[in-house]
Amino acid sequence: MRLQNKVIIVTGSTTGIGKAIAIRCVTEGAGVVLNGLEEYWGKQVLDELGNEKAALHIEDISNEGAPERLVDIAVKTFGKLDVVVNNAAIVASSNIDTTDKNFLRRLLEVNTIAPFALIKAALPYLTEQRGCVLNIGSVNAYSGEPNLFAYSVTKGALTTMTRNLGDTLFRENGVRVNQINPGWVLTETEIERKKKHGLAEDWYKDLPSVYAPAGRILKPSEIAAAAVYWLSDECGPISGQVVDLEQYPFIGRNPPKDPSTIN
Ligand SMILES: NC(=O)c1ccc[n+]([C@@H]2O[C@H](COP(=O)([O-])OP(=O)(O)OC[C@H]3O[C@@H](n4cnc5c(N)ncnc54)[C@H](O)[C@@H]3O)[C@@H](O)[C@H]2O)c1
Repeated sequence: MRLQNKVIIVTGSTTGIGKAIAIRCVTEGAGVVLNGLEEYWGKQVLDELGNEKAALHIEDISNEGAPERLVDIAVKTFGKLDVVVNNAAIVASSNIDTTDKNFLRRLLEVNTIAPFALIKAALPYLTEQRGCVLNIGSVNAYSGEPNLFAYSVTKGALTTMTRNLGDTLFRENGVRVNQINPGWVLTETEIERKKKHGLAEDWYKDLPSVYAPAGRILKPSEIAAAAVYWLSDECGPISGQVVDLEQYPFIGRNPPKDPSTIN
């Protein structure tokens, strides 16, 4: 019960990593506000967690007033707000040719500006509880896959926001802000996304060891397990940190140029 009685908003928790984080938060004793775009899936998560421990709000987080509505639901349902997990994001492929200004604006709106707006709306309550924020970034923030141009840019900006606010908000408000950068995670939507990109039906069962030293990629529950530390009081005063969660070092890696990586 490492999150006992904490009240936590998890954006994008109808599927994937956000869903796994919300489920784990409740297992650890928290109450959660679920959010996302898919009502059907959201209701399934709500049914699993029960109305005493969870509330569901289906809305696009980039809508005007959506962050305030999420905060309001947390406070009206559970009486306070301790934690915001900014997990919702548009994961979309694009390169310089297929990215126009409107596409980049849309991804920034959801992946970067909405997290900022939610932190701002939640801040009075987080300050009251000396709570915290966990932003879900991506290892693509450092540069990113060639065909994840716009997405990578949004995660780079999110990283700077985490470090900037992780410094300021902790000193001025007692609110910690940290970020975890998942590597490659096998979510329901990732399976479908990669099939659309031309990979085989069961692509995730046979991956080169350079991407999957363990013979598999990460599970959402493994990201959720790591998230608990950053959300809990065990984290102490640590703030402004960005931590990669992948099976190999992301910075400085230089894989061997032999048949195990090139064929
Ligand atoms: N899966 C991976 O390999 C991977 C790797 C690195 C980082 N991430 C990050 O982890 C987070 C979750 O990714 P995932 O793979 O679980 O994604 P996913 O596609 O399975 O889920 C995305 C969630 O965000 C919600 N969402 C999307 N746009 C929204 C909007 N405008 N308003 C409200 N909700 C919205 C969806 O409804 C869904 O609940 C994202 O921030 C993503 O960038 C994922």
